[in-house]
Amino acid sequence: MSYYKVLGFEKEPFSTSPDPNYFYLSREHEQALTNTLIELRLRRGLSVILGDIGTGKTTLSRKLIQELKVRQDVIFHIVLDPSFENENMFLRSLARNFEIPIPEAQAPSSLDLRDALERFLFQKGVTENRSVVLIIDEAQKLNEMSLEVLRVLLNYETNEYKLLQLVLLGQTELHAKIMNIPNFFDRISFIYTLNPFSLKETEEMINFRIRRAGYQSRMHLFLKDAVVEIHRATHGYPRRIIMLCHKALKELVMRNKSVVSAGIIEEIIQNEMRAGWHRKDPLLLKNSY
Ligand SMILES: Nc1ncnc2c1ncn2[C@@H]1O[C@H](COP(=O)(O)OP(=O)(O)OP(=O)(O)O)[C@@H](O)[C@H]1O
Ligand SMILES: [Mg+2]
Repeated sequence: MSYYKVLGFEKEPFSTSPDPNYFYLSREHEQALTNTLIELRLRRGLSVILGDIGTGKTTLSRKLIQELKVRQDVIFHIVLDPSFENENMFLRSLARNFEIPIPEAQAPSSLDLRDALERFLFQKGVTENRSVVLIIDEAQKLNEMSLEVLRVLLNYETNEYKLLQLVLLGQTELHAKIMNIPNFFDRISFIYTLNPFSLKETEEMINFRIRRAGYQSRMHLFLKDAVVEIHRATHGYPRRIIMLCHKALKELVMRNKSVVSAGIIEEIIQNEMRAGWHRKDPLLLKNSY
């Protein structure tokens, strides 16, 4: 039997996958989501969401997709890793993913691809009155060449709106990158930074996830002191919180207990410190358990 079933859960409460159904809408996550959706509706072009490692950018992008999926007037594609070697490969990947017919016989030039993309954006945006949305996660990996490709695509517009809606989600170094390209930076219509959670948000997120995973008992699974300790140890970074909570629940099962106390959290942290993990900061790594 899985450890979480022993504790009365139907599903795993602290999985590290970016599942939008386990996404607690903190004030900042909500603001980022709502404002991005408004920008998309108004077809204003470029939205940028920044955040440190593990602050919820990828999960936010999944939430955004959940919202866009139900809209008939939106065509979207998400790029998970924008490490393209050259302009032609980037353009070809966009054309393929938006299902733009490209003559296969000879390798299309970048000019052909840009023309095809422009025709596609015009057809969808003006003739069919639909929004074409491109979401790029891990956008800090975009190089200058790729940013230039995107800048050109953002230039396609009518008098009232942009034909391509671009949402970039990236770690904070993305900011420095786009600051260095003034005519890219100038095109940003919405920019937002996700910060770590406060103590209250940490508590709400933990409670939200355990309820989502089917925990029904009225008893507090995480005592208040334990939450304070979790917040202190993780500095409110969502991925770290998730990983620490996961470890705490496993400890509970192993010790045959039913509530997480501050003592259990302290012991987990101390054991990790003793193992020398704190130097590598294992709680930040994506899949360290
Ligand atoms: N608002 C939230 N509510 C619930 N869980 C969250 C929230 N934000 C982040 N998480 C969880 O934290 C973990 C890390 O989130 P995510 O992968 O989205 O971060 P990220 O900012 O994309 O990180 P990276 O910079 O490493 O790509 C995931 O398990 C995710 O489910
Ligand atoms: Mg991510």
